[in-house]
Amino acid sequence: MGERGAGAAGLGRRKKTGSRPLSTSSVAELEDAEEETLSRRKSLAENGRERGEPCPAQSQAARPSDNQFRCHKLQESLLSSASGYSNYRGILNWCVVMLVLSNARLFLENLIKYGILVDPIQVVSLFLKDPYSWPSLCLILASNIFVLAALNTERRLASGAFPESLGIFLYTLNLGTILCAPVLVVFMVTSITSVGSVFALGIYTILFLKLYSYKDVNKWCREKRKAKVKALARSMSAPVIKANGDMAHSVVFYPGNVTYRDVYYFVFAPTLCYELNFPRSPRIRKRFLLRRLLEMLFFMQLIVGLIQQWMVPTIQNSMKPFRDMDYSRMIERLLKLAVPNHLIWLIFFYWFFHSCMNFVAELMQFGDREFYRDWWNSETVTYFWQNWNIPVHRWCLRHFYKPMMKRGVSKWMAQTAVFLASAFFHEYLVSVPLKMFRLWAFMGMMSQIPLAWFVAKFLRGNYGNAAVWISLIIGQPIAVLMYVHDYYVLNYEKLQ
Ligand SMILES: CC(C)(COP(=O)(O)OP(=O)(O)OC[C@H]1O[C@@H](n2cnc3c(N)ncnc32)[C@H](O)[C@@H]1OP(=O)(O)O)[C@@H](O)C(=O)NCCC(=O)NCCS
Repeated sequence: MGERGAGAAGLGRRKKTGSRPLSTSSVAELEDAEEETLSRRKSLAENGRERGEPCPAQSQAARPSDNQFRCHKLQESLLSSASGYSNYRGILNWCVVMLVLSNARLFLENLIKYGILVDPIQVVSLFLKDPYSWPSLCLILASNIFVLAALNTERRLASGAFPESLGIFLYTLNLGTILCAPVLVVFMVTSITSVGSVFALGIYTILFLKLYSYKDVNKWCREKRKAKVKALARSMSAPVIKANGDMAHSVVFYPGNVTYRDVYYFVFAPTLCYELNFPRSPRIRKRFLLRRLLEMLFFMQLIVGLIQQWMVPTIQNSMKPFRDMDYSRMIERLLKLAVPNHLIWLIFFYWFFHSCMNFVAELMQFGDREFYRDWWNSETVTYFWQNWNIPVHRWCLRHFYKPMMKRGVSKWMAQTAVFLASAFFHEYLVSVPLKMFRLWAFMGMMSQIPLAWFVAKFLRGNYGNAAVWISLIIGQPIAVLMYVHDYYVLNYEKLQ
């Protein structure tokens, strides 16, 4: 009550003074009195600190009756970095809302300008020129020959009928044909379309990488077998019993793996790296499978629709500035194309690496579902390539990079060699179907090496992450426009 009474008395006194006008001398007196009180408090606090006593503020805080009136504490504003605040979920939602709104405007503008361009019949014509000729499908079915050739070579190598040198020769022939045969077909068969060729060549490239891995792993098994011949006398396929009594997938030992069933399981499995015993999931989850299937169908339609409605007209409108070498209009077109291109690429990522790969994995009870890692947090270009496409990265490490490093090749040389190989396959998948060799994809991939060096040396944290995003958002449409421009000049301008 004493404290409160004093406070109330003080207030009353101030009110009284406030009710009548103050003379200049009384104001000066009041200021002097306040200054004196302040300096007295200060000296008291200093003396107290010297004696190890709490300062007046602290001692007030300790008094429970004062706590009731306190509404301030020592704290930073949320947006200042010293506050340590990091929950920006609401801001992220705002970004998404803004993105949807601004894209909705673009979408409406596009609809008003061009009308509805989505045409499912046109999609069929991208795959087939002649309804009675299906060259891409025939090419894909013919790829079985190479699988069977690899299996039979392995069988003979395993039984000792073929020496290792003959095995190397046959594999070189088989893998070389896998890369060359579809190129010949694409150039010779006129009824094959560019989109159909991309599919066929993509499947042949995957098969090339898979059979290369198949060859390596079986060779490693033979080398191991040579080292422990005795132990392997008893090591053919043996069933394993689970703890609950169920029959688990049998564990296979070399050469028990060299069978049709095993090689075809690998050919269809969502991985490029062969293993004798893949990790297997215990059962097929039907709801999971159905969700992935619906996603696959929906996102495929969405990608095709966005390409027809948004990308194609933008590309068509970009031809004139590129022909006239009008630089400011070229940059404007490039930035315009960057938005749909990037959106389609992101949807493609989810469609392929999440929906399709998980669908196939679930169907085949393939247990390892690490098809991608958090590449979106990449602060360096190296991190991006290590995490965005795990099947390819794993293959590169296991069958190309590490063997080179073990042979004493320097890290820089080995990385350059991996990017060279990757650049070759990127160019192979674009140039052959377009029947035009321009090396834009090759250069795009090779430019990752200096870009990786630059980002690692000069940029850190969020700046590095922004640099990776910019390179993805801008880099891809540059390559797309280059190819389309060259294709247009080569195929249509000549006709005019
Ligand atoms: C080139 C590339 C393989 C380098 O990968 P990286 O992870 O940066 O390479 P690192 O130097 O960090 O080494 C990776 C591995 O090699 C191992 N290694 C390094 N030196 C070694 C040596 N002398 N002997 C054996 N192993 C070695 C490391 O221990 C590490 O092993 P871990 O993965 O088991 O931890 C990678 O950037 C890549 O995959 N690039 C191409 C990607 C691509 O083209 N993708 C196409 C997608 S469309």
